[in-house]
Amino acid sequence: MCGIVGAVAKRNIVPILVNGLLRLEYRGYDSAGLVVVHDGKLDRVRSAGRVAELKDKSAHTYGELGIAHTRWATHGVPSERNAHPHMSRNLIAVVHNGIIENYEELRTELTAQGYEFTSDTDTEVIAHLVHSHYKQGNLLLATQTALKELVGAYAIGVVAADNPHQLIAARKGSPLLLGVGKGEHFVASDMSALLQVTKNVVYLEEGDVVEVNLADYRIFDQQGNAVQRPVHVSELDNDSVELGEYQHYMQKEIHEQPQALANTLESVCNSQSLVPGIFGADANTIFPQIENILILACGTSNHSGQVARYWLEEIAGIPCSVEIASEYRYRVSVPNPKTLVVTISQSGETADTLAALIHAKATGHNFTLGICNVPESAIIRQSKLRLLTRAGPEIGVASTKAFTTQLAALFLLTLVLAKLRGRLDAAQEQQFLHELRHLPTAVQKVLALEPKIAAMAKYFANKHHALFLGRGMHFPIAAEGALKLKEISYIHAEAYPAGELKHGPLALVDADMPVVSVAPNDTLLEKLKSNLQEVKARGGELFVFADADTHMKESDGVHILQMPEHAGFLSPILHTIPLQLLAYYVALEKGTDVDKPRNLAKSVTVE
Ligand code: F6R
Repeated sequence: MCGIVGAVAKRNIVPILVNGLLRLEYRGYDSAGLVVVHDGKLDRVRSAGRVAELKDKSAHTYGELGIAHTRWATHGVPSERNAHPHMSRNLIAVVHNGIIENYEELRTELTAQGYEFTSDTDTEVIAHLVHSHYKQGNLLLATQTALKELVGAYAIGVVAADNPHQLIAARKGSPLLLGVGKGEHFVASDMSALLQVTKNVVYLEEGDVVEVNLADYRIFDQQGNAVQRPVHVSELDNDSVELGEYQHYMQKEIHEQPQALANTLESVCNSQSLVPGIFGADANTIFPQIENILILACGTSNHSGQVARYWLEEIAGIPCSVEIASEYRYRVSVPNPKTLVVTISQSGETADTLAALIHAKATGHNFTLGICNVPESAIIRQSKLRLLTRAGPEIGVASTKAFTTQLAALFLLTLVLAKLRGRLDAAQEQQFLHELRHLPTAVQKVLALEPKIAAMAKYFANKHHALFLGRGMHFPIAAEGALKLKEISYIHAEAYPAGELKHGPLALVDADMPVVSVAPNDTLLEKLKSNLQEVKARGGELFVFADADTHMKESDGVHILQMPEHAGFLSPILHTIPLQLLAYYVALEKGTDVDKPRNLAKSVTVE
């Protein structure tokens, strides 16, 4: 949440800041702002709108040192006065991602010292605090001293009007990267903002403070010791964050799923057998010891965990529970040191998931596995074992390709554990590997249904509610479909296991309540058909995504979208695709901002 960019160079850095913010806008889009140091002064431009507005407003701004920010409001309404950067006495300017928990007491102290506050944000205290410690032009020391007084999470960038070639940045609990150029340096919340200028990147660690100059940079750890951090060369290219031929990132990312799945499964599909080592060297010793699995995740990532529970219990025969990370971290649970704690996250920075992982470790869980789309993210660094999904950057706020690649990763986990537990013979292993190799092609076939789904979406445009039904391992897919629809089209959507309908929600069904159902040709099909009849008998309009081999037929009030034939255990992955497309096309019909739905942001780095 919130995106930060900073730059020091021997050229105008305003276009770099603005382009960087455009890349980071998915992290928050309530307001945007930048400040440059020019002629010994801070020149600040802010906008209560999107980065595009900031771009216009800053078209004539020039500076060779600056910081910029795109905001997801926490403290204070989205407005120009609350937009970052925040300044102290026209000398210090700060951008901040995170939350300062003790800002109220700091504000009281700083007000007593004569500082005047001009915003409702927690961030402004940082600017005044740095100012209060800023002596003899030592911005590094002033920032380090100020940071000692802060409680909470932050990634910050700081500049001073009288320090024309230096930027100080720091992180604790929020991500921050240093981009290394030739005679110029940059900071940003993620790599996508840096690709325009460099591929050389240093991942700052928890508590790091970096002094960024034109020619060099110095990194200090939490204790203030100078440290070296490795420079990585990013594998991403600028094209991977471009929209290309698509209208929205969400549409692009839905269509990228065959490739994303192929990339995630590449190493496994190229080999003849499954080995624990794909989860890290320690998996060979950890996996044989585990007695059960606890999956912790939020939102869409939690749904992938819920599907995996069915796989892990049925195929690998291992007990599995799935918890909402934000709930788990605050409840008293009974830890079992033989539990494998699996966290699932696209960003690897989700505050609730990270805190749940840290909580699990604190209660004695040593076996941890992170399934994540961002290398070097906090969740990956905190986990003993890891598997990276290789979906590539996901920019649309609604998660799509991250979800299906998480499912692929969790299926691999299931197979590796099943094999270790003697529940997968060589023939079954080869059969599953064959099905995994075929998965990208199978997904491509489902994507070809796009025009039919776009036509179906028209029906939903003037609806206010929708029910999603599924059974067994497709119930979490129904839940994911409902989440997608509500977050981007603002239609209220709820998912139920189809058998649960008659226990209450059936009362909601009338001609104005579209009922979407996932109908795979599995053992629960006949039960599901009966549940659908119950809806039809009450005048409900049904939209059924049915496997071709179910032979379900259209009738009055029953719309059938024919999927390919049943794909066995991998069916949830295929059934996700039409629900993503449905949500996308309904949002288009309604004219909402598909990639940046209201009130939301990607990478939820606050509680
Ligand atoms: C929904 C969505 C969110 C995220 C959730 C967790 O489309 O994107 O529900 O899935 O905020 O985020 P990650 O996976 O980054 O931990």
